[in-house]
Amino acid sequence: MSISQNNILKFITCGSVDDGKSTLIGRLLYDSQLIADDQLNKLRNDSIKEGTQGKEIDFALLVDGLSAEREQGITIDVAHRYFNTKKRKFIVLDTPGHEQYTRNMATGASSANAAIILIDASKGVLPQTKRHSYLCLMMGIKEIIVAINKIDQINYNEGKFKTIEAEYSLFAKKIGFKKIKIIPVSALHGDNIIKKSKKMKWYSGSSILSHLEKINLKEPKKLGKFRLPIQFVSRPNSNFRGFQGTVSSGQIKKGDKVLIQPSNTKSSIKEIIYSANYVKSASIGQAITVSLKDEIDISRGNVITKCDEPSEISNQFLVNLIWMDENEGHTGRSYFLKMNNQTVGAQITSIKSIININDLSEKSAKLLKLNDIAKVNINLDRNIVFETFQDNPSMGSFILIDRYTNKTIAAGTINFALRRSQNIFEQKLSITKNLRHEMNQHESKVYWFTGISGSGKSTIANLLEKKLYDKGIRTYILDGDNIRHGLNKDLGFTNQDRIENIRRISEVAKLMVDAGLVVITSFISPFKSERDYARSLFDENEFVEIFLDVPFSVAEKRDPKGLYKKAKQGKIKNFTGIDSSYEKPISPEYKFETDKLSVNKIVNQILDDEFK
Ligand code: ADX
Repeated sequence: MSISQNNILKFITCGSVDDGKSTLIGRLLYDSQLIADDQLNKLRNDSIKEGTQGKEIDFALLVDGLSAEREQGITIDVAHRYFNTKKRKFIVLDTPGHEQYTRNMATGASSANAAIILIDASKGVLPQTKRHSYLCLMMGIKEIIVAINKIDQINYNEGKFKTIEAEYSLFAKKIGFKKIKIIPVSALHGDNIIKKSKKMKWYSGSSILSHLEKINLKEPKKLGKFRLPIQFVSRPNSNFRGFQGTVSSGQIKKGDKVLIQPSNTKSSIKEIIYSANYVKSASIGQAITVSLKDEIDISRGNVITKCDEPSEISNQFLVNLIWMDENEGHTGRSYFLKMNNQTVGAQITSIKSIININDLSEKSAKLLKLNDIAKVNINLDRNIVFETFQDNPSMGSFILIDRYTNKTIAAGTINFALRRSQNIFEQKLSITKNLRHEMNQHESKVYWFTGISGSGKSTIANLLEKKLYDKGIRTYILDGDNIRHGLNKDLGFTNQDRIENIRRISEVAKLMVDAGLVVITSFISPFKSERDYARSLFDENEFVEIFLDVPFSVAEKRDPKGLYKKAKQGKIKNFTGIDSSYEKPISPEYKFETDKLSVNKIVNQILDDEFK
């Protein structure tokens, strides 16, 4: 009997190796008899060599053997395994189970129809079980199977099973899971994996496999409103321009009037191509190419909707997210947000609460730690077309990416847009930066000094400004100590406050450059992220980073303000170089070793290079 291509169930397994995850997957693969015989023989030999009990096969070894690729690199975080029964095909998305691997789990979960969450019967419901459940919920998985494994270790005891079942059910209800199936299993002995076990007469439900076979994949998906996020613009010749993407919801017909968002230009559908054929209509889930009646500029990340059913557009949201990085997440820091085929700069503007996974209570927090699940406000550098996660999971979920490592550091879902930015428009001004340059007879720029306290920032900045003043150049110095008396007097020296300090200074510097000034900033600015964020606000060549490098011991000896002494005595906390870090610039425009060069020499070199 052939199985239709549509009858494929993708499921993710959540749990750690200790919970018996590999054994469970191995059982499913082996008992459904789809492992090649030679592989089996090898496995038999290996598992005997490994010294597992008697002649039994070590199923975990089977899976781990198949997943050697996992150890080879970070790129393959989700291992795909395939098997089928007479009823349907299955794809198992297996992800490493350690706490820090939530990131991989999210990757798998985003494309799964169902999830098997493993609980070790001897341990019961663990925080990790709850976190994984929450992540499945966030990723839109509706079908949850809870496998209470190692039931043999608790002597197939009904009472103990019921206790775990009750605890999990209560939690599942609280977070809003509707379709859960809780099954007592022993992956090791094969109880309730493929067939119903005879050892648990008290259990009247189905086995894991028959439940997986029963999950309804054809649940009528709500068609919804037409949304086509554009993934690719194709131009095979000068006559044709096709816009490609997967219909995220709704349907479209030839001739329909459409709106291209966020530009809000209108046109109508000329052609629809699906599977290399011209078709009259297309709907949810189909990867299509459309052409339009009018010549319109559309780029990746734009969304085609119907004129009378537009999508929402905003740049500020309340979102739920799960933080997946070992490095803490900070408000004010700039990340990349990827959603609907586009990547935009994003900042967490405030952390509303962290959810305690054990009792779902919420508490406040200043930063995000690994595996935290939080409600936060997020601000994007530009407007994007979106839907709330509730309305359209694929258009309402996103990931955050670290700007440097390119790692996924968080996954999130949009609860709703914050209306505060909706009524604010950019006002075009008549007097431009260029006109100001003409009037001043010089260009405007930022000279961004960075270095530890005592590296010479203020002294050098001061002399540079004096010499520029003598040349008739309009300048202004933004200096750490001064700004912290006024604009930033509410900020201290925690990482959080330093990030906000530099964010504000960057924005002020930007305004001053717009006003036609040469701006000299003198801040420790210890973090690469914020210095690069500052740079990102300016045009190329407008931002010059000057790193004043000095050995810590020299700065400590200079100690112009007596602060090193105080910090060493423990009188000042979070002091840069003592109990707060300084990340050296990697490729600044200038780097001067201030213990080797005089202030005059440094200033003259900048003047010679920059103001010939
Ligand atoms: S930054 O890290 O946020 O860029 P900023 O340059 O504004 O710091 O302020 C640094 C100045 O504040 C130092 O030059 C020093 O005079 C003073 N200061 C007071 N406490 C600290 C501290 N804990 N760490 C560093 N500088 C401090």
